[in-house]
Amino acid sequence: MEELTPKDLFLQSVGRCVANELFLPEFYSRFVGASEEIQARFRFTDFDQQYLMLRRSLELCAGATSGDPESMREINERALTHDRDHLNIKPEFYDVWLETIIDTARIHDSQWDEAVETAWQRILGHVVKHMLRKY
Ligand code: HEM
Repeated sequence: MEELTPKDLFLQSVGRCVANELFLPEFYSRFVGASEEIQARFRFTDFDQQYLMLRRSLELCAGATSGDPESMREINERALTHDRDHLNIKPEFYDVWLETIIDTARIHDSQWDEAVETAWQRILGHVVKHMLRKY
């Protein structure tokens, strides 16, 4: 049997996490609870929409990391909406984002192990670095 790539491991893990309807609300509740500044950014947010967009974004991150041009284009658009002239998502927020999403996934994925964690770190770390370069 061929070994699963980090992308496969990540996408399968995302699938297991989002199969549990508590995963996305719990992530946002922890993330927004992490700082008043983060909370303020989401004061007008429709969270049902936000859950859908995050789920899609996670898949996008996997595509962008493996070089898919359409995913790259969309990540570049997100980098623009999140930069200092738009949503002004400060670099330190991304550290909290990454840590919180991985902590939440660890709890919700029953097959979590070191390889899965490395895959999450690698794929989301890659996209976060890209967003930060364009901040
Ligand atoms: C790689 C990381 C991230 C991805 C892929 C991502 C993706 C997205 C997407 C797809 C949207 C909706 C469309 C848009 O406005 O661009 C969005 C909106 C938003 N994101 Fe992010 N995001 C990321 C990190 C963050 C972080 C760290 C924060 C920190 C506070 C943040 C705050 C927001 C806010 C405030 C909105 C607007 C919500 C609203 O409509 O009220 N995002 N994000």
